[in-house]
Amino acid sequence: MRIGVLTGGGDCPGLNAVIRAVTRKGIEAHGWEVLGFQNGWQGPLEGLTRPIGLDDVEDILARGGTILGSSRTNPFKVDGGVDRIRKVLADNGVDALVAIGGEDTLGVATKLHELGVNVVGVPKTIDNDLSATDFTFGFDTAVQIATDAIDRLHTTAESHDRVMVCEVMGRHAGWIATFAGMAGGADVILIPEEPFDVDDVCDRIRHRHLRGARFSIVVVAEGAIPKEGTMATLEAEVDQFGHVRLGGIGNLLQTEIEGRTGFETRVTILGHIQRGGTPTAYDRVLATRFGVEAIDAVHQGDFGTMVALRGPDIVRVPLADAVRELKTVDRRIYDAASVFFG
Ligand code: F6P
Repeated sequence: MRIGVLTGGGDCPGLNAVIRAVTRKGIEAHGWEVLGFQNGWQGPLEGLTRPIGLDDVEDILARGGTILGSSRTNPFKVDGGVDRIRKVLADNGVDALVAIGGEDTLGVATKLHELGVNVVGVPKTIDNDLSATDFTFGFDTAVQIATDAIDRLHTTAESHDRVMVCEVMGRHAGWIATFAGMAGGADVILIPEEPFDVDDVCDRIRHRHLRGARFSIVVVAEGAIPKEGTMATLEAEVDQFGHVRLGGIGNLLQTEIEGRTGFETRVTILGHIQRGGTPTAYDRVLATRFGVEAIDAVHQGDFGTMVALRGPDIVRVPLADAVRELKTVDRRIYDAASVFFG
């Protein structure tokens, strides 16, 4: 038996840990061959392959990124894309595919499964916005990186009596902002799920300063949205999956807060730093458990499924359940974080 593996979408810490687990378990437990497809769906579309042996995965558990490369290629946007994938899989003798990705990559996997391709999905994304799993790997690392950054912003904010705006990733979900903001003691956290009024944000900051605080920390998710008519917004580009490229709300907020309150304000946009570097222990363990379970699913012919975390258990769920709707921030967690606002 020969299995294919690919990593699609934005990279995230822990991808290599899954590739290692899939390869080790596939080869050592079942004697299968593992074929890597490079650059997400571009690999099976264009026949970009690389065999993966035990030597290739020896030293990659702690390494960020993905040894297979990644892309946001959408084969359903390419003429004859699905037929090309079928042909490449057949030409390479690939019996089943393990697709490691987020909403977009697994959306493609779902459709391919419906068209008869043997696929098992593994959920990854720093955004933690995939339904049907409690957490995705990569999220914990991103939260840790953002929390470290917020801690550092605290000391410089304090020294200069400034407002610090810290923009974090997360697309249209505020998971990273909520967790990192809570862990870093943010005074305001703005997330896409709760459109904000910049006047309220400024009131909270003024209130803090009246109480004698010498600084404020505002954590804003890149997808946070001002309430209609309260503040200017940006136009954004769209990718092959129709997603806008986010980023820049932090800069707008800096101008608005400084202009309205008179407090000196600075902005830090964490950007891709949140996706780079070594995964936390939590993410390595989660990614490894996901990889092992994906091989079990392939072994049992349980295709069209995604491995998922439910409480302490790794389970399998229909791929379609994972991509049906975005998993937004649990209101109870945001409410707990908001106790400490202003
Ligand atoms: O989905 C992961 C993510 O890092 C988002 O948080 C962010 O909006 C996006 O990818 C950035 O994508 P790119 O690397 O293509 O700029």
